[in-house]
Parts: sequence; C-alpha cells; structure tokens
Amino acid sequence: MILSCNFESEQVRLMRLDEGKALQIHRQRFGRDGRAFAAPARVNLIGEHTDYTGGLVMPMAIGFSTVAVISAREDGRAVFYSANYEEEASFEIASLERSPRGHWSDYPAGVLWSLRQEGIAIDGFSMSLAGDVPLGAGLSSSASVEVATAMGLLWLAGVTLPLEKIATLCRKAENEYVGAKSGIMDQFVVAGGVAHRAMMLDCRSLGYELLPLPDEVRVVICNSMVKHSVATGGYGNRRDEVEAGQAVLRQERPGIELLRDATLADLEACRGKMPEASFARCRHIITENVRVLEAREALLKGDLQRLGGMMIAAHVSMRDDFAASCPEVDAMVEIAMRQDGCFGARITGGGFGGCTVNVVSADGAEQFVETVRREYATATGIADAQCFVCEASDGALALLAKGGVQ
Ligand code: GLA
Repeated sequence: MILSCNFESEQVRLMRLDEGKALQIHRQRFGRDGRAFAAPARVNLIGEHTDYTGGLVMPMAIGFSTVAVISAREDGRAVFYSANYEEEASFEIASLERSPRGHWSDYPAGVLWSLRQEGIAIDGFSMSLAGDVPLGAGLSSSASVEVATAMGLLWLAGVTLPLEKIATLCRKAENEYVGAKSGIMDQFVVAGGVAHRAMMLDCRSLGYELLPLPDEVRVVICNSMVKHSVATGGYGNRRDEVEAGQAVLRQERPGIELLRDATLADLEACRGKMPEASFARCRHIITENVRVLEAREALLKGDLQRLGGMMIAAHVSMRDDFAASCPEVDAMVEIAMRQDGCFGARITGGGFGGCTVNVVSADGAEQFVETVRREYATATGIADAQCFVCEASDGALALLAKGGVQ
C-alpha cells in the first residue's frame, strides 16, 4: 500500500474524512452529537533514545491521525469506544485507580487518571476513538491516542493547558498508568508539531526550535512490518542499561545529572565501572545528541548531504552501540541508501523493528518507494511493506487553532 500525504490539501481531506466518520460512529453508538479532536502520529528524523536522559530529538508530526469524539453523560462514568477494535471499556470516574489491563483502553483511561491526578475535575462522558495510525510501527500510535484523548477531556472540563503540560500529563499516563517507560518526545510533537517544520526539542528544558524542511525533499517512511512495542521487551531493557550507566556517571563525575551533561571523555573515564552494554548504550546517546545538533545546522543551511550523513551515522550507532535494530530494518536501510536521490536513511522510533525514515529527492520519491518495496521483498520475503511519502503536518494544538477539527 502506498499512502501519499504529501499535499497539504490531501492531508486535511484525510483528516476530515476520519473526523466525519468518527462523529457519525459516535452518534450511532451513543445517540448524542459529540465534539471531535484530532492528534497526528509522528516520525523522528534523528535523536533516538535520547529523550529520557534529557537529550535532543528532532521529530515531526505526520498526517495520520487519531480522532477522539466526546460528549457528556450523566451517570458519572467514562465510556470509551474504540472504532478500530470495535470494543467498549467503561470506568467509574470517581473511583478510577491505576489499573492497567494490557488493553487498548489503558491509554485513554491513563490520560483520564493523569488529568484527575492533576486536580482536573472531569464529569461523566462518552468518547469514541478512531484512527489510522499504523500500530506497532514506531509512529507513536499511543501518543496519538493519548493526546487526542487529552484534548477532548480538557475541552469537556473547560480547562486550557499549555503544550508542555499537555505533553507531560500524557507522558505520565503512559509511564505511570500504562507502565511504558517512554520519554517526552512523542507526546510533545504530537501535541505541538507544526506543518512543514521539523521540531528540535530539548527534552530537559522542553525548549524547542522549528526547523525548515527543504521543498526539494520528501520524508519517506518505510515499515519493515516487524512489529515493535514500547510497552514490552527491548525498550525497557535498553532504558535500564542506559540508566545504570547514567547512575555511574552521576556518581563519578561532578556536575553530571543526566547523560545529556556527559561527554565521551567522561564516559571513557568511567568505562571500567559499568557493564560494557551500558557503556555502549551511553556512547550511542552521547554521540546522538551531537548528531542532532549537526542535523540542525544542516537543515538551517539546506545541506542535505550533511543531514543524510548524520542519519546514516545515527543508524549505525543504533545498530551497533544501542543494539536496537534488526536484520530486516538493516536490510531496508541498506537498500534505501543504494537508491539515487536518497540522502539519508535510518531506523526510527523505539527500535527492534518498526519503520525507517528516509530523506529522498521529491521528484524521485514514488520511484524510491517502488524500488525499496521490491528489493526489500526479495531480500527478506516480506512482500507487503508499507511506505508513506510524508510532509510534516500540524500537531493537535495547531489543528485546533486552525479550526481543523470542530
Ligand atoms: C519511543 C518512546 C520515545 C523515545 C523513542 C526512542 O518512541 O515513546 O519516548 O524514547 O522510543 O527515541
């Protein structure tokens, strides 16, 4: 399947289509008109596994979306209906405890819990959720659901919060309710992304800079179709290894609070005091923060070769130091890099499968997709790899401000 979302009008149409359908589903299910809020997906250009140690990332929002439609109800319950799963989950709001069930409803229920923890009063409601974000592909389907849910709940509560707070509360839902130890990147860009711009985010200060993406390139996302999950397995394990290394640095080197503060020289000095795996994971993160800054420079100068060079180095580092790639994704990156007009390619997201992100000449993007799919099928036997030609789209707040969702 090739889904092209490289024209703004087409993106809006895709969203509006979803939204209209979601409003209709809600009306049919709950017998009331609701109000719709949309949140996109995201792809990370560079800066992987840096967010939870206060580092730098460079994601952008992309034109898939989750739509949350909400209306009030009078019985004090929170009723979520997932149009994707065709399933309902219901909670007594006043007695909602942290009780994840390993179920899709953990994400919206977690946001409800997180907002209530913040002291935000939320009365009974029905919410329908519908989305077209590919699941398990590393494109942040979970943050998309969380932010769409938060937008709906905040509207119902009559509360306005700034971007930083929305992102932080959604992250809290994921960390503390769902139990996935993710950083802030996904929720932040899903809420705060801006069309035609990548966002360099400082995950410590939450300061950010919007960077131009040259018109002559497209960001192409290729799904290896190897499923990844942030909630289980490798992600949490890598995070533990990183935190073990960070704890040694904090103890041994004055002035280091987070890995973000450490240099390679600091790390080398502590090498004997941490497991070799932690050393390698930390080396990835320290060098990745530097690569994000280089990528920023490259984008500001429109230097696509340099940007691509950083992406390739980032992939090698994710593969070798962070050990979070897999043979299929490596094959996909190698195939991409052989194509004319491909400046850079790398694994994107949490790792262990999922998608690659590729920066490709605009005029060769469709050809690129065809060739990568064909050669990937030959190399791996996976014949149905999905590829998306994307542009940076608006996050949930920009969509709301532009009246994209009513
Ligand atoms: C997942 C997490 C993010 C981030 C990335 C890796 O997407 O949700 O917080 O850690 O992995 O960069």
